[in-house]
Amino acid sequence: MDKASKRYNIVTFGCQMNKADSERMAGILEEMGFRWAEDPNEADLVLYNTCTIRDNAEQKVYSYLGRQAKRKHEQPDLTLIVAGCVAQQEGEQLLRRVPELDLVMGPQHANRLEDLLQQVFDGNQVVATEPIHIVEDITKPRRDSTVTAWVNIIYGCNERCSYCVVPNVRGVEQSRTPEAIRAEMEELGRQGYKEITLLGQNIDAYGRDLPGSTETGRHQHTLTDLLYYVHDIPGIDRIRFATSHPRYFTERLIKACQELPKVCEHFHIPFQSGDNEVLKAMKRGYTQEKYRSIIAKIRQYMPDAAISADAIVGFPGETEAQFENTLKLVEEIGFDQLNTAAYSPRPGTPAALWDNQLSEEVKSDRLQRLNHLVATKAAERSERYFGRIEEVLVEAENPKNPTQVMGRTRGNRLTFFPGKIEELQGKTVKVKITEARAFSLTGEVVDKKLVSGVCSN
Ligand code: SAH
Ligand code: SF4
Ligand code: F3S
Repeated sequence: MDKASKRYNIVTFGCQMNKADSERMAGILEEMGFRWAEDPNEADLVLYNTCTIRDNAEQKVYSYLGRQAKRKHEQPDLTLIVAGCVAQQEGEQLLRRVPELDLVMGPQHANRLEDLLQQVFDGNQVVATEPIHIVEDITKPRRDSTVTAWVNIIYGCNERCSYCVVPNVRGVEQSRTPEAIRAEMEELGRQGYKEITLLGQNIDAYGRDLPGSTETGRHQHTLTDLLYYVHDIPGIDRIRFATSHPRYFTERLIKACQELPKVCEHFHIPFQSGDNEVLKAMKRGYTQEKYRSIIAKIRQYMPDAAISADAIVGFPGETEAQFENTLKLVEEIGFDQLNTAAYSPRPGTPAALWDNQLSEEVKSDRLQRLNHLVATKAAERSERYFGRIEEVLVEAENPKNPTQVMGRTRGNRLTFFPGKIEELQGKTVKVKITEARAFSLTGEVVDKKLVSGVCSN
């Protein structure tokens, strides 16, 4: 087939891992000669990169897929792919459910897209979900932004939180070497990227599977070591990382963040529940006291650090009093941002089989109450920005107002201010905050002189 004239579309669900994988798969398709189609209905190849973290995420995929499957009956040469976490979870069963599919591929196979497609073009229906060692990818990702980029440092997760499908679908931990990570970051610096977010489901586990590490004691290649190792890369002004796990978070890491000017004072550390019994049932491996002490430590070193987290309400057996412990934690810590979710039983996870499940009514009532508190607290936290001068790295035009640009503060607050994107994209600008809302800010440029290179703390 003449691939040169073929067009593709990728629809991405789920977390930053999936977004990063989609960018890599898009890079592979472009290398193969495919061109981007804005509208999936006009594409010759449609790839759904899917998420199964909660039931509603999974159901969304089926409704999208249904529409494309129908289109395939009129257009038999349409190539339909399901990648990502639903693909891994469902495997062959997906073909039974949607026989129109050409390719079902788990997240560990993202880099193999070209090979797998070749098998499809040879006339096969392909399922690639067996666990494999992820090979270093040499294809250039097609990244959505020209300013900020994600860099995977560890794939998979070896934790066994009792509610979570991620270890089932993403496989065991596999760290990339510091050299491979540095090489990717150097290339990004050369291309003009300014901000890098290092990614891992449990980023504090980085390096424990690399040679030279032992089961006990500190391993040689920790996240902290990695931050020191990549910190001097030319062109890169900001470094972030996510997601942190309270069980493994160290004071050494906090010190490094304070000491290294490029590392932003923003920490994403999910706590999941503010109740010790619930945390135990979740198999999280820490107490709410430990969590609070981590936050206190961070604030001792960096009083203004932004803190965000994830929380689950309505975990099996959670009592009203236990839920109130979560409210109390949120009240007392004052998060800058909190992703909240009602517990959703997932196939293949222990908690899904327990008989103390809560009703949907209780779960959604608790979710609403928590969300209300989160918005109030985030608005309070946001107020501290009012009148302050913040360094904003400009990413793009404000899609709702072309006279404004938008970017983020070091603490990750989305900030809008008047300006031209042609002049400002990729620049770090000093902005005086004139308006503070719960999750975003508005301001004006105070100093035409741009903050160059490394931002000051
Ligand atoms: N690795 C990260 C989170 C990965 S999943 C961590 O350890 O925290 C992202 C978020 O989805 C989780 O933090 C959790 O809050 C939520 N989540 C995961 N499984 C869930 C489930 N079964 N029901 C509801 N929310 C869930
Ligand atoms: Fe899931 Fe727990 Fe691993 Fe996070 S640490 S991905 S919540 S199993
Ligand atoms: Fe979803 Fe898979 Fe990420 S289940 S949250 S896309 S790891």
